[in-house]
Amino acid sequence: MFASSLSFRTAVVLGLLGIVMGITMAASHDHSVMPAHAHLNLLGWVSLFLYGIYYRFHPTIDSSRLALTQVIVWALGTVVLTVGVAALNLGKPQAEPIAVVGSLLILSDMVLFAVLVFRATDTVAKAARFEPAE
Ligand code: HEM
Repeated sequence: MFASSLSFRTAVVLGLLGIVMGITMAASHDHSVMPAHAHLNLLGWVSLFLYGIYYRFHPTIDSSRLALTQVIVWALGTVVLTVGVAALNLGKPQAEPIAVVGSLLILSDMVLFAVLVFRATDTVAKAARFEPAE
């Protein structure tokens, strides 16, 4: 599977979960897990969708195992961080290690993405699948 396809699909699933979480918060008038909701939406929906767009414009990276790994680790880190942050917000300080693991997964995976970006040799123009208009 292409990294971009996995990014888009995972982003949609996590975005739906984030929206359901937001509606649940609004309906219950209990905003205590607001930071978890914000992280789930911004890491899970927005960031993953942006990764998908980047990979779609760089076909060589898009088909690499490293990019696929980057998307999987990001999704995993997002879920772990969201669970850890939500548990902390719900008054469970013992969940701190979960939030720490999630944040380190996210940090190391952003480093991996930075490596992929700086190593990229294909420019958007060269990699683009569009043909110039006649
Ligand atoms: C139907 C969809 C959504 C609902 C019902 C919803 C609901 C909420 C609610 C009730 C809060 C708490 C506000 C407060 O306590 O001040 C909140 C905060 C937040 N939401 Fe959502 N949300 C939705 C979608 C999204 C999406 C798609 C994103 C990001 C792409 C997002 C990002 C955030 C952020 C960043 C905050 C924190 C804002 C702050 O710090 O004041 N939300 N949302």
